[in-house]
Amino acid sequence: MTDRTAIYPGTFDPITNGHLDIIDRARAQFDAVVVAVSQHPSKNPLFPLEERIAVAKETTAGLGGVLVESFDGLLVDFVRARGGGVLIKGLRAVTDFDYELQMAQMNYRLAGVETMFLVANPEYSFLSSSLVKEVARFGGDVTGMVPAEVLSRLRERFHGEG
Ligand code: PNS
Repeated sequence: MTDRTAIYPGTFDPITNGHLDIIDRARAQFDAVVVAVSQHPSKNPLFPLEERIAVAKETTAGLGGVLVESFDGLLVDFVRARGGGVLIKGLRAVTDFDYELQMAQMNYRLAGVETMFLVANPEYSFLSSSLVKEVARFGGDVTGMVPAEVLSRLRERFHGEG
């Protein structure tokens, strides 16, 4: 392998412990991991881009070799602008596979960018940012599913508590 940078793209609205597990495990395989936060205004994110970036930085601050950056537009353009890298995606279940396969093939077709998949830790394979938001919105407890920095922000956002 010639390129030792992994690029881990996502909306991270918000970042979960499943994302952090993938980031940590990618560190073991690559020299550097770039968490690439997609602006994604069309997804109408709960947290604005600046907050998603800030939380990703806070929660990965203790992990050497991890950078947090943001991108808009095509992911392959971001990869090219950085001078290359391998995309890392987490696969939770077979339901992720169809779409991830399609995106991996499109990114390869567009720019020869490779994608590597890490299989989600079973402890987190049910976890998604969308479900976390839904549960938190209706007062469910998402402790252990998201880092403390996210827990407090969800409480603040949905229930006006810090
Ligand atoms: O966390 P998500 O929402 O599942 O991440 C999806 C993301 C941001 C990786 C994907 O939507 C993406 O790559 N968006 C950038 C636009 C793009 O390049 N689209 C073509 C993908 S083949």
